[in-house]
Amino acid sequence: MEFIKVTEQKEPQVALIELNRPKELNALNRQLMEEMRDALQQLDKNDDVRVIIITGNEQAFAAGADIKQMADKTAIEMLMIDQISTWDQIRRTKKPIIAAVSGFALGGGCEFVMTCDMVIASETAKFGQPEIKLGTIPGAGGTQRLTKAIGKAKAMELVLTGRFLSAEEAHFYGLVNKVVPKEMYLYEAIQLAKEIAHLSPVAVQLAKESINRSFETHLDEGLTLERKNFYLTFSSEDQKEGMKAFIEKRIPEFKGK
Ligand code: CAA
Repeated sequence: MEFIKVTEQKEPQVALIELNRPKELNALNRQLMEEMRDALQQLDKNDDVRVIIITGNEQAFAAGADIKQMADKTAIEMLMIDQISTWDQIRRTKKPIIAAVSGFALGGGCEFVMTCDMVIASETAKFGQPEIKLGTIPGAGGTQRLTKAIGKAKAMELVLTGRFLSAEEAHFYGLVNKVVPKEMYLYEAIQLAKEIAHLSPVAVQLAKESINRSFETHLDEGLTLERKNFYLTFSSEDQKEGMKAFIEKRIPEFKGK
């Protein structure tokens, strides 16, 4: 494992996955997400693990999908690589997943957090879907889960402007369970995990499945449309300009082509 680190604690039965691409603010490249998929599959089968915590570092949970890796791709290449399908494992995992978030949770980082079951945030956390500034749209559930989590008006504002939500705002809108001082977010996530780890794993799994069913009815259709539209933006000049401008550290010029 190059881009994630997995540690297991026997007592309580909690596993910790740390995203580990600090220089790139944990940007989610293909290899990282493949490692994540494999780790989650293994932990889900491991009887010594009851709850999984996923975290980044103080500066960033994750600043999104890796822009440099996809900037030049065509829509067809995006469709054929279908990178987002690797992400489905987060949602398929039967054990509860707690996201412990400090710093940036943007784009795919925010979508990742929303696919987890509960979120503990440091007061420094920032959430957002800034894809629009790159000439593209969220592709891993942002338009669907954010809307359900915080309501249509606020989701529209965030997705159409790329503005960020502070930790306090995210808490107010119900995106996160709790906001704590930055020294405490991992500790607090572990406390929550411990409480759940002592309960019946069978009941916990069934409860999780039931809540997700209520939350995710009709989600599949929405996710499929979003994913296709995300890939479709890669046939526009604006997406090429937006991502090129990010890499070149300049303001993009969008032409509507
Ligand atoms: N992909 C690739 N590299 C990234 C990245 C990303 N998403 N986010 C940050 N980085 C890299 C930067 O390019 C920079 O690398 P270099 O040192 O080689 O230049 C390094 O991480 C540090 O970033 P900054 O210098 O930009 O740090 P900052 O503190 O000035 O700004 C930030 C932080 C506001 C998070 C800024 O990095 C940023 O805007 N990042 C992009 C956020 C974004 O647009 N995310 C959406 C991606 S698309 C997506 O996720 C699609 C999807 O739905 C699946």
